[in-house]
Amino acid sequence: MKVCMIGTGYVGLVSGTCFAEIGHNVICVDNDERKIEILKKGKIPIYEPGLLPLVQKNVSAGRLNFSTSINEGVRASLFVFIAVGTPPKESGEPDLSSIENVAREIGEAMEDYKIVVEKSTVPVQTGKWIRTVIERFNKKGIPFDVASNPEFLREGSAINDFLRPDRIVLGVETEKAKQKLLELYEPINAPKIITDLASAELIKHASNSFLSMKISFINALSIICEKSGADIIKVAEGIGLDKRIGRDFLNAGVGFGGFCFPKDLKAFIGIAQKLGYDFRLLKEVERINEEQMRRVVKKLEDLLWNLKDKQIGILGLSFKPNTDDMRFAPSLTIIAELKKQGTTIRAYDPVAMENAKGLMPDITYCNNAYEVAENADAIVLVTEWDEFKNLDLKKLKQKMHQPVFLDGRNMFDKQKMKELGFIYTGIGR
Ligand code: UDX
Repeated sequence: MKVCMIGTGYVGLVSGTCFAEIGHNVICVDNDERKIEILKKGKIPIYEPGLLPLVQKNVSAGRLNFSTSINEGVRASLFVFIAVGTPPKESGEPDLSSIENVAREIGEAMEDYKIVVEKSTVPVQTGKWIRTVIERFNKKGIPFDVASNPEFLREGSAINDFLRPDRIVLGVETEKAKQKLLELYEPINAPKIITDLASAELIKHASNSFLSMKISFINALSIICEKSGADIIKVAEGIGLDKRIGRDFLNAGVGFGGFCFPKDLKAFIGIAQKLGYDFRLLKEVERINEEQMRRVVKKLEDLLWNLKDKQIGILGLSFKPNTDDMRFAPSLTIIAELKKQGTTIRAYDPVAMENAKGLMPDITYCNNAYEVAENADAIVLVTEWDEFKNLDLKKLKQKMHQPVFLDGRNMFDKQKMKELGFIYTGIGR
C-alpha cells in the first residue's frame, strides 16, 4: 500500500522506514531540505540504533523515497501520516502550527480519496481541526477520512517498538478507514485497538503521563528509602513482581527527560485545564521530577561540604542511553545548578556531546570517563550508558582528587564501590 509520511524526525523516519520494511511503498516528506539531502545521500540525520541499515535496505529495494514536496507525497499515496513536531510553547501547550500548515497543504494537494492519519502526539480533539482545515482548502471536495494512530516508540529501541508493539491504536471515524488501516498494519502481529478519534488521541497522553507518574512515584519512594535505610532496588523488585504494578519504569534515578515525557505532561495538564479539570496529580509528577534533579546537587553538597571551586565529573549527558538526544535531559538541569554553585564541570558522553556542545558551550568535554575523573572532587553518573559498566574503577579512582561517586542511576554495586574505597552514594540506597 502507498504511504506518505510527513516529518522525518525520530517518529516519522522510523515509522516510514518500518512501513517500507513490512512491504509498503513509502515516501517520506520533510520541508527541511538539509534533512532530505542527508537522506538522499544514504545517511540519516538522527541517531537511532539499527535505523541506517534499515533505511538503506528499503531505499535500495525501491520501497522508500524522500522528498520536500507534500504535493508529490500526497498524490502518490492513499495514507498521509502527519508526523511533524509539536514543540511546547512558552505556556507549555503544544505548538500545533506545523500540523495546521501540513493539513492545509494536504487539502490543497488531494485529487482522490485519502486517509489522513495523526501520528504526532496531539491534544485530544485535534482531529476535528485537521478535518476542518482540510475541508476549507480541499476546493474540489475530494472525499477523505481523518484517523489517529499514536506512536509508542522509545528512542533507542524505536524500530523494535514499531515492529513488535504491545498494541496498535487506531482511532477512526468510518468503516472504510478502519478496514484500510487494518490492512496497512496486517503484517504486524499485535493487538489492534479500534477506537473513536478522541479516545485514540487521549490514549497517547494518558500512556505517557502514567509512565511518568510511575517514575516519579519510585523517585519519591527513593527519598523515603534514604531516610529509612531501605533499599529502593529491593523495594522496586518487591512491588514490581505484582503483575498489576509491573517492574518496568520503576528505576529510581536523577529524573526523567526527553522530548516526550516533560512536554506531554505539560500538554496534558494544559488540555485538562482547558477541558475544566485541574490535573493536580500530574502537576505533582512534574514537581517530584524537578526535585529529583535538584537533590543531586544537594547530595553533592552533603558529600563535599562546599561546592565552590570544586571540580565535578559528569558521566553521561543524553536524556537516556542509546540516543544522542539532549532535549530536556536531566544533565542540563543538574549541570546548570552545579555551575551556579561555582563548580567547574568536565563531562563525557559516548554519543551526545556534539548536541550538548550547542547547549552547554562552556563546560569541558572529555574523550572518555578517565579524563573526566582527572582531579575530580566527585563524579556524578547521570546516564547509564552500558560502556560505563566496564570501567576500570581502580584506575578511575586513582585519577580523582577525592573518591566521591554519586551514582545517579544506581548502576554500580554499593558494597563493591565502598570496598574499592569510593565514598559512594546512589539514589534511594
Ligand atoms: C517515551 C515513552 O516510553 C514512549 O512510549 C513514547 O512514545 C515516547 O516517550 P522515550 O522518551 O524515548 O519514550 O524514553 P523512555 O525510555 O520512556 O525514558 C524517558 C525518560 O524516563 C528517560 O530520561 C529515562 O532515563 C527515564 N526513566 C525511564 C527513568 O528515570 N526511570 C525508569 O524506570 C524509566
